[in-house]
Amino acid sequence: MLGLLKFNTYKKVKKNINIAASILSADFSKLGKEVYEVDKAGCDMIHIDVMDGSFVPNITIGPSVISKIRPFSKKPFDVHLMINDPARHIDDFVAAGADLITIHYEADKHPIRTLDYIRSKGVKAGIAINPATPPTVLESLLDYCDLILIMLVNPGFGGQKTIPSQIEKLKVLSKMLKKHNKQIFLEVDGGVNPKNIKTLINSGANLIVAGNSIFNGGPDYYAKNIKKLKVTQDKK
Ligand code: DX5
Ligand code: ZN
Repeated sequence: MLGLLKFNTYKKVKKNINIAASILSADFSKLGKEVYEVDKAGCDMIHIDVMDGSFVPNITIGPSVISKIRPFSKKPFDVHLMINDPARHIDDFVAAGADLITIHYEADKHPIRTLDYIRSKGVKAGIAINPATPPTVLESLLDYCDLILIMLVNPGFGGQKTIPSQIEKLKVLSKMLKKHNKQIFLEVDGGVNPKNIKTLINSGANLIVAGNSIFNGGPDYYAKNIKKLKVTQDKK
């Protein structure tokens, strides 16, 4: 499924930006329909936030719910695991239909082993870092991941404001990927809106997660909201 997505070449970083709709901001009482609607509205991926009440304060959904919403979209499921010791659950998320699985650097004592395991299942592997984690920790992981997720907020809740210092981190990571000539998704998550998306893309992000700024207003607004994010990119 991921073959349908174009990875950016870094010279053309302003093209082929993917928008992932974070269903944390959707109406959970009709999640399947919400996934269908946001897919139809033009997002490129479905971003699914899994929280365990331990790594982050909030608790959300697990593999059984993901498998239930899987038939509502053919677009890639981008599963963001905010759970401790994620290795214990990789098989379940693969079986549920994940196309990308991202683990947190801070939640796994042996991230290379887990990233390797995710890839061995034919799924793209991602590594996420919290706002307080320095970007340098990722340098030794570049050979083992297809995606880096920079948290622009402390994970756990939608609707927060981007922490400004994370933009600098994004630039550092973008340079690191260029230096090592790595074709890796650079994903940003937290507080993205039509006002700051341009800065994020210019700083190197090529996969953009948006929750509130897409789901705000309900299904009638999803296409308009996604267009606002995309139009902002085209204007550059
Ligand atoms: C936060 C989650 C995000 C969240 C983003 O911990 O990882 O994916 O849903 O929501 P917004 O875009 O509203 O900040
Ligand atoms: Zn997320």
